[in-house]
Amino acid sequence: MNKTRALDQITWENFSELSTMEKAPCFLKEGRIFHALVAQQFSRSLLEDLCSLATCVRRIAKTRTGSRFLQEQLFDRRAMLYFAQPSSRTYLSFAAACQVVGLDCMDVRDSSTSSEVKGESSEDTVRTFSSYVDLIIMRHPEGGFAERVAWMLSNTSRPVPVINAGSGKDQHPTQALLDIYTLERSFENGGGIDGKTVAFVGDLKRGRTVRSLAWLLTQYEGVKAWFVAPPELQIGEDILQQLDAAGMSYEISFDFEKVIPQADAIYMTRIQDEWDLNNESRAIDTSMYHFKKEHLKMLKETGVIMHPLPRRAEIDTAVDSDPRAVYWRQVRNGMWIRAALILSVFGCDRAVRDYYKEQEQ
Ligand code: CP
Repeated sequence: MNKTRALDQITWENFSELSTMEKAPCFLKEGRIFHALVAQQFSRSLLEDLCSLATCVRRIAKTRTGSRFLQEQLFDRRAMLYFAQPSSRTYLSFAAACQVVGLDCMDVRDSSTSSEVKGESSEDTVRTFSSYVDLIIMRHPEGGFAERVAWMLSNTSRPVPVINAGSGKDQHPTQALLDIYTLERSFENGGGIDGKTVAFVGDLKRGRTVRSLAWLLTQYEGVKAWFVAPPELQIGEDILQQLDAAGMSYEISFDFEKVIPQADAIYMTRIQDEWDLNNESRAIDTSMYHFKKEHLKMLKETGVIMHPLPRRAEIDTAVDSDPRAVYWRQVRNGMWIRAALILSVFGCDRAVRDYYKEQEQ
C-alpha cells in the first residue's frame, strides 16, 4: 500500500494505523501545506520558506500601504477559531495573524457555549463550523482529534484546511514554528540553528511544545538536545525513538546547572498539572529546574532563554530584562509565523514575496 496518500484517498481505519511520520505527508496537497497538524510534516525547506515569508510579512506590515496589501490577500475568506482549551497567546496571535492577512474570524472558546452541551458530537460541531468558513484553527484536549477532523473534512464536498493550535499532550506544531523562527532570528549572525545545543527544561513528559520543537530540530545539522527534568517528568520514549531514527544527538540530565553553560538556547517549561488527575506532580520538587537570576552569569553571552509561556516560578522575573531572555519576542514572532502559515495554506505566499521584492528595489 502507498502509505503517503492524500486524506481523501485513504480510509480512516487505514490512516489511523499509520505512525506520525507516515501520516505527515498526507497533510500536504501537491507538495504544499494544506492541513498543519503535526511537527513531523515540516521539512527543513518548508521551515526555511515559512521563516523567510514571516520576515517578508513582518517588514511589509511596517507601512500602511503594506498592511493594506496584506489585508487584501484574504479579505474574501473566513476562519473559525475553535478553542476547547484555555489559551491566551495562541488564540490571540492567530486572531491577530488573521487580521494581518485580512481573514475575518469567528470563534468558539468554550464548548459549553456550543451545541455540544445538547449532545452534539464534537465531529458534527466542527463540521457545522466548516460550513461557514474557509479555515479551521483548533485547540482540543484530545490528542489526535485535529487529525480526525482533517480526515473528515477532506472527505466532504468542500474540504476545509485545519490548523492544529495544540492537541492533547502530544502536538503544538505552530508553537514549534514560532520557536524555530525565534531561534533563527536569534542566531542569524551566529551561524543559524545548525550546530547549536538546545536544553529543554521542566515538564518534558506532558509538554507538547517540547515534543514538537524537539522533532523540528532534527531538520538542522549537528543540533544537540539536552532533556533536563526530574525522572517523573522526563521526555517520552516515543519522541526519543524519533530523534534516534533522525540521527539527532541528545542527552538526558537531572543537573540543570551543569547544562546551563553548554547550551546555546535554554527552553524552560512549566509543570503541566492541568493533566494531573490526582495532583501527583504537585508533590515533585522542581525548584532545581528553575532559571534564577544567578544563573545568568553561567549562560553563554550569545545564549538565549526561551519559554512557550505561560510561566509560573520557573523563570525569575528579574531575568526578563536580560537581553538574552527572548520569551516576549517569541510571543510577537508567533503572530508573524502564523500569518505566514495561513498565507501558505491559501497559496498567497508567491504574491507576498513578489510584493516584498518590488518594495525592496
Ligand atoms: N504557548 C501557548 O500555547 O500559550 P497559550 O496556552 O496561552 O496559547
